[in-house]
Amino acid sequence: MNLDDNAPSLKSEIGAALDYMLPELEAEPPETFWYYQARLKTNFKLIHNTNSEFYHDCLHVYNRITGMLKPDSGYFHRRYTLFPGGHASVGSVTVSYDSYKATGRSELGWPHLAPKGWKLVDLFPCITFNLRTSVLRIDGYIPLAPNDVILEFRALGLKSDTPEIRRQREMDAAVIWSPFGRKFHEDLLASSGRGIAVAKGSQPMYGLQAREEDATIHDEVGMRHHLAEWSGAWDEAPRIRTRPSASVRAPPGEDTMTVNRIEVEELVCGTCLRLDDKDWKGFLALCDEKFNYKVTAYAPEIRNDMTWLDRDRAEVEEFIGMLPKHNTHPNPLTRHAQVWKVKVAAYRAKVVSSLQIYRTALNGGATERFAVGKHYDTVALDGGQPRLLARHVELDTRDLDWGTHLPL
Ligand SMILES: [Fe+2]
Repeated sequence: MNLDDNAPSLKSEIGAALDYMLPELEAEPPETFWYYQARLKTNFKLIHNTNSEFYHDCLHVYNRITGMLKPDSGYFHRRYTLFPGGHASVGSVTVSYDSYKATGRSELGWPHLAPKGWKLVDLFPCITFNLRTSVLRIDGYIPLAPNDVILEFRALGLKSDTPEIRRQREMDAAVIWSPFGRKFHEDLLASSGRGIAVAKGSQPMYGLQAREEDATIHDEVGMRHHLAEWSGAWDEAPRIRTRPSASVRAPPGEDTMTVNRIEVEELVCGTCLRLDDKDWKGFLALCDEKFNYKVTAYAPEIRNDMTWLDRDRAEVEEFIGMLPKHNTHPNPLTRHAQVWKVKVAAYRAKVVSSLQIYRTALNGGATERFAVGKHYDTVALDGGQPRLLARHVELDTRDLDWGTHLPL
């Protein structure tokens, strides 16, 4: 249910992030059997961070005993998979519930989930789907103030549960996830502790998220991915460059990618360098097969946008191929694109760059300003390397001298 009829579709926002858990989620209608809250004096992003990294498992004796210390559990082979938009999933593991004496779980499972399996999906900005063997927990947070948040927890079973099965699911959930469970209060402690650690007046005021372990379970790539989305998607001002996400290998059969702002920036700047060099083939090699190129400018005199060029890939190739036959200004151009904003959604990055173009005289070497404007680029992220899918050059400069055939 969405209260806004004009909201984009859920699929367009989360892409394939939840696909990993869809077989289990769609197997049977679920039913919520627990709902409870906790109110913490911390920032809600720090709580979501706790669900986005598992080095903190070290503080859970339950997880140490049932997973970390069991070489055959596959615990250390769990991998993060990152999705555009700040979402992430964590690979499954076989939990040795019986290792924790007297609080082990039943053999009751969940349709399509491997026996004693555990899957987790974090959706940006603050929803977590946590499926542990027989119970699905869905977390969501309601920020009230920078350091005040209500946590909402829901535990779900299946609508088809008999009273006996439902009772068993509750018992399973209670082992770790009830307010009296073995792990629940430790997570609240961790989230609150992080809030205290970085609060104003605290000495450090910074969190170091530098653990890189090839995107395996103690890598902090999930947290970095979440916070990188915050710094990119919500700031209108030029963003602070964040550390790029570690490259992530996709599990077999899973459609995934790594959002890497540096690669997107290098693509935008790379197109400028190749155009500066008149390396047309090199430029086209950076463009998608469905590339579209458009140049517009606004004319206040007529209060209208002017579309000066609008071509698909084949037309651009023809356009470039004909350049030697045209009379073009001989003085070379130098394009300077400053990437301002990268917003990722559904395997596409929308990139806004300021554009300044200079022209340097072959005779004497004097440089003049040629044009200013913006690049509005669309970058395709669903392949091995980012590719330029569309470029809209919006020029502020409307007096372009003569011989302006070159792509900008
Ligand atoms: Fe935890």
